[in-house]
Amino acid sequence: MSNSIESTLHETRVFPPPESFVAQANVSGKAAYQALLDEADRDPNGFWGRLARENLQWSKPFTQVLDESKAPFYTWFGDGELNVSANCLDVNLVNGNADKIAIIFEADGGEVTQVTYQQLYERVCKFANALKALGYKAGDRAIIYLPMSIEAVVAMQACARLGVIHSVVFGGFSSKSLHERITDVGASLVITADAQMRGGKAIALKPAVDEALGMGGCEAVRHSIVYRRTGGDVAWDAKRDLWMHEITAKQSADCPPVPVNAEHPLFILYTSGSTGKPKGVQHSSGGYLLWAKLTMEWTFDAKPSDIFWCTADVGWVTGHSYITYGPLAAGLTQVVFEGVPTYPDAGRFWKMIQDHKVTTFYTAPTAIRSLIKASEAKASHHPKSYDLSSLRLLGSVGEPINPEAWMWYHINVGGERCPIVDTWWQTETGGHMITPLPGVTPLKPGSCTTRLPGITAAIVDETGGDVEAGHGGFLVIKRPWPSMIRAIWGDPDRYVKSYFPSELRGYYLAGDGAQCDTDGCFWIMGRIDDVLNVSGHRLGTMEVESALVAHELVAEAAVVGRPDATTGEAVVAFVVLKRSRPEGDEAIAIGKQLRDWVAKEIGPIAKPKEIRFGDNLPKTRSGKIMRRLLRVVAKGETVTQDVSTLENPAILDQLSTPV
Ligand code: WTA
Repeated sequence: MSNSIESTLHETRVFPPPESFVAQANVSGKAAYQALLDEADRDPNGFWGRLARENLQWSKPFTQVLDESKAPFYTWFGDGELNVSANCLDVNLVNGNADKIAIIFEADGGEVTQVTYQQLYERVCKFANALKALGYKAGDRAIIYLPMSIEAVVAMQACARLGVIHSVVFGGFSSKSLHERITDVGASLVITADAQMRGGKAIALKPAVDEALGMGGCEAVRHSIVYRRTGGDVAWDAKRDLWMHEITAKQSADCPPVPVNAEHPLFILYTSGSTGKPKGVQHSSGGYLLWAKLTMEWTFDAKPSDIFWCTADVGWVTGHSYITYGPLAAGLTQVVFEGVPTYPDAGRFWKMIQDHKVTTFYTAPTAIRSLIKASEAKASHHPKSYDLSSLRLLGSVGEPINPEAWMWYHINVGGERCPIVDTWWQTETGGHMITPLPGVTPLKPGSCTTRLPGITAAIVDETGGDVEAGHGGFLVIKRPWPSMIRAIWGDPDRYVKSYFPSELRGYYLAGDGAQCDTDGCFWIMGRIDDVLNVSGHRLGTMEVESALVAHELVAEAAVVGRPDATTGEAVVAFVVLKRSRPEGDEAIAIGKQLRDWVAKEIGPIAKPKEIRFGDNLPKTRSGKIMRRLLRVVAKGETVTQDVSTLENPAILDQLSTPV
């Protein structure tokens, strides 16, 4: 737990929802919220059944809401059928939204492209027809490795239209990470682009796919479909590679949606856990979409006139729920962007809000913190230099937001009038779980406040007993909910062990430590496992360690997190080489080599911020590496704990010296 998180627990400022917001909110006032909580607590199945009937269009209505007979393998609306893409697109054509702008896309260089719901529908249908013509059908798995683009949304929706299960891989992951996911998920199709643009530079994507497919074990992949983003030269395998624009050109603009069972997997998204191998989190169609849509209405107070902007990448769950599915199911106009918040300059977010008249802005604390710095450096990067009066609601996601960043966001971006929804959730939960409702909840900077109706979040001890307010414990969800993870792809045992450990009475274990205050507000204190949160991205320490020890120079490595003012946490690696411990310039050179190696093995987001070399690592007499002590050393603090159980206490002094 970092010091900054300690200090948030003493935060006393409270910001009640503005009356003008309450007056127009979808969930307006405490009584409305309480009524939903009570309905859900009194009769959960009645509550969820009602919402699923009211919010989704079913091709075959369900008769059973929740089946707990194989707990913790729950099923929701299990005998119902629907199509997710029809619920995002077709419904909007009959609801009078055909000519409404669905997506305003702004590319890295600032070019803007818009599509209406009708146009998006046609593009999705054409692409789905092309996939169908190639023989892809419900249940097949497609890896999507695309830049942020309208095409990425089209590809995901086209898969959903056919029941093809997509697994999106963030464009920043290496060919090795890509290969791991292609083989684990058993993909028969890869959808990629020639390149992506980031900060004015083209970064090739297709070569990583070619490399991954060449690594072996990918024989099931029949095609690699390529979106032409930059038009640069690409290597081509005529037997396997197809241009997206060529295969869609002659297709019909109508493709009947394939009804699938509510439990049919919509997607599998890999995320880091406590072991070296990422977990393929499997989500359903019905329950998942229900929550993506409802949280748009509740948390984001979605209104037909909104211009919604979630700055996430579709490679993460936030981009799934709050770009590809939620906003479309809610019939909104949304902004999608390619690039980085600091290009062409650090005023980009504020300029985009001004240009596109964004009403609802959802981003990550790490982006806010980096933009605070930039805005202090130059007036033209400051939000106050832009007209942000269109904004009515702000959101935060991915990591705890420190109160200083919260206040800056509130004052400088929200003009002190916009509520901030600090949404706590995870890849596994599918959508928001603990968050303020903007027309209900008094806000406390640094707290994600209270649970959503139907979400039985609680803090418990190691036996599952409730922990009193003001004391730390494990964050759990006591009852299943529709958008919960259904499985870890191909590893049912790991699903049970990771999320439903037997000592916790069948509760879902989130993996976060947290505490509740006396108002029932939750304060997230950080992960309880070996997962780091770097710039809002989940990273397993074991993943980075495995990458390091795969390098020919490395004998042993231990990776820990250290609090970082901008990225939340930073990766610090303690490394023992097979040869003698390097010093001075040599240590710097090998450090760089290893950092580049990690970027190549996993992706640039996993690069250690610092590498320290030792003759050994601190170990117990039984050989266990004492990561707890390394965390103290990484922070630059003196170890005050008892080190008498260590085999080699002197090593701590050596490791305490940064290169
Ligand atoms: C952390 C991202 C504090 C938490 C949607 C969780 C947060 C992990 C918040 C999930 C928040 C996410 N406040 N911590 N508002 N939101 N986290 O799977 O540790 O990429 O377990 O999902 O991020 O990260 P994931």
